[in-house]
Amino acid sequence: MARWKLMLLPLVVSLYAILTTVERHLKCNLPSIANLLCQAYEAGEISGPLCPDLCEQKNIQFGNCLTEAMEDKVYEGQWHGRDVIFKANLRWYTDFNTFQKQTDEDVVLSFQDNVSFLVETLFGDCPQCNRLVSLFLSLGDSDNDGIVTAPEVRSLVPLLRQQEPFMLIALNNSKQTADFHGYCGGLYATEKLPLIVSDVFGTQWNFDDFNIVPDTFEPFQEMVKNLIAKIFDAAISIPYFSKIVVNIPTITLNGILDAFFDLRMPNRKKQFEYFHSLLDSVMDLSSNPYGMLQSCDMHLGNFGIANNSVVKVIDFDAVFPVHYLRHVLEQKECVSDADCWFGTKDDCQSSCDTATKKCTSRMQKQDLIHICETHIPFVLKRPCNQEFSKNNSICSKKVVRKFELFCKRLRVVDSLDQLRNDVLAVKKELTHLEKDLSNMC
Ligand SMILES: Nc1ncnc2c1ncn2[C@@H]1O[C@H](COP(=O)(O)OP(=O)(O)OP(=O)(O)O)[C@@H](O)[C@H]1O
Ligand SMILES: *[C@@H]1O[C@H](CO)[C@@H](O)[C@H](O)[C@H]1NC(C)=O
Ligand SMILES: *[C@@H]1O[C@H](CO)[C@@H](O)[C@H](O)[C@H]1NC(C)=O
Ligand SMILES: *[C@@H]1O[C@H](CO)[C@@H](O)[C@H](O)[C@H]1NC(C)=O
Ligand SMILES: *[C@@H]1O[C@H](CO)[C@@H](O)[C@H](O)[C@H]1NC(C)=O
Repeated sequence: MARWKLMLLPLVVSLYAILTTVERHLKCNLPSIANLLCQAYEAGEISGPLCPDLCEQKNIQFGNCLTEAMEDKVYEGQWHGRDVIFKANLRWYTDFNTFQKQTDEDVVLSFQDNVSFLVETLFGDCPQCNRLVSLFLSLGDSDNDGIVTAPEVRSLVPLLRQQEPFMLIALNNSKQTADFHGYCGGLYATEKLPLIVSDVFGTQWNFDDFNIVPDTFEPFQEMVKNLIAKIFDAAISIPYFSKIVVNIPTITLNGILDAFFDLRMPNRKKQFEYFHSLLDSVMDLSSNPYGMLQSCDMHLGNFGIANNSVVKVIDFDAVFPVHYLRHVLEQKECVSDADCWFGTKDDCQSSCDTATKKCTSRMQKQDLIHICETHIPFVLKRPCNQEFSKNNSICSKKVVRKFELFCKRLRVVDSLDQLRNDVLAVKKELTHLEKDLSNMC
């Protein structure tokens, strides 16, 4: 093993030790949050379809903590023996406390208003919006006894005020979004899926390299492996990661990462299968009854792969209805285009109308364009995805470049029909690309 790799080990280990300690004390306390929720449930203050499982039957087990964020608690775990993801956001408590100050009667009476207001804020006055309101209202009766009580409303409305649970429930019938399994107070459970980044275009740590490490290090190996995998996932899921974080050229970063990992790339046919399913998921997201959607934090880390090779969206923190985005952007004052964005800069960017000093509502790019011109070429151009001879590598770069140019000519669409056409066009181009790669390179 190269010496420089070994020299990095103590650094990584101590970094990880610090991270885990901090994490333990500050962040990874979902089980204790669950305890508090159950106390409130037993006191009759909160409610939700998962509460009996969480607090009485105890058929929920928490596994590992998955997040570094303070606000968000994300755990993997089991529910009725099924692998799921548990999430809770601290904002729920703030909202819940506000509701606690209102009388039971007021809370129940304003339930419908509160739900209609949320739906209208996000989707506007859409033709099927009433259906969505009804869906949420029916969820309100979480114990199915025919009566919506104040604890039921106080549990559900704060949850719906968060982007992710709102979207997960609204889109639960979609084929290409993670399933929503239910909630208890501020804690909710979703389908757990292998991530597209780690399981498909991801990594396998080559541990033979570390055989010379003393046995005492063994407990750390799993930790180091997880940490490196996390860094790698971040790097591969965000093409411009290296520019933002480490300020070294992507090529160099990829070189370093490739030196550390045995890459578990699926064969080319499989990769293209996933690309096609990824494009279908863009179509599926916007094909809901309420209105078109756009992700304002587009990266491959937000996608999982279901058992049948179908790509599903798993992270909705920054997925917004186009109606809402337009409204938010139009309100913004600006001097230049650089002021006109929402979510992650670049992903949801409009332009500045310098005459009115207000942002326009028209997006510069959409999900399909991002995936086409950035994410697919990024995966195909990774060094580990190139054949070994220089000739092949030059050839495939050329072919991928042609595909990128096609993507750069894609327009911003306004309707579902236009989107459907463009998704079909990209899939056709992708098929050409796959053929060219195998015939010419
Ligand atoms: N449905 C799921 N299946 C499998 N893993 C998941 C799922 N949802 C979340 N995760 C894992 O939990 C981690 C934290 O999830 P979270 O939604 O908080 O993402 P995040 O750290 O906020 O990332 P982002 O930058 O995309 O918002 C993710 O990085 C992912 O590895
Ligand atoms: C719910 O609706 C009531 C009455 O319209 C309003 O006073 C209250 O602020 C709303 N609460 C939330 C959280 O939207
Ligand atoms: C969401 O969809 C899944 C799969 O279709 C279903 O099993 C589940 O009950 C639904 N969840 C809710 C809250 O309706
Ligand atoms: C995936 O499918 C296989 C068989 O098709 C099954 O044995 C396995 O349990 C499934 N895994 C999950 C996570 O559903
Ligand atoms: C490299 O490709 C060119 C055509 O693109 C071909 O003429 C040449 O023989 C190839 N060289 C090798 C070593 O394969």
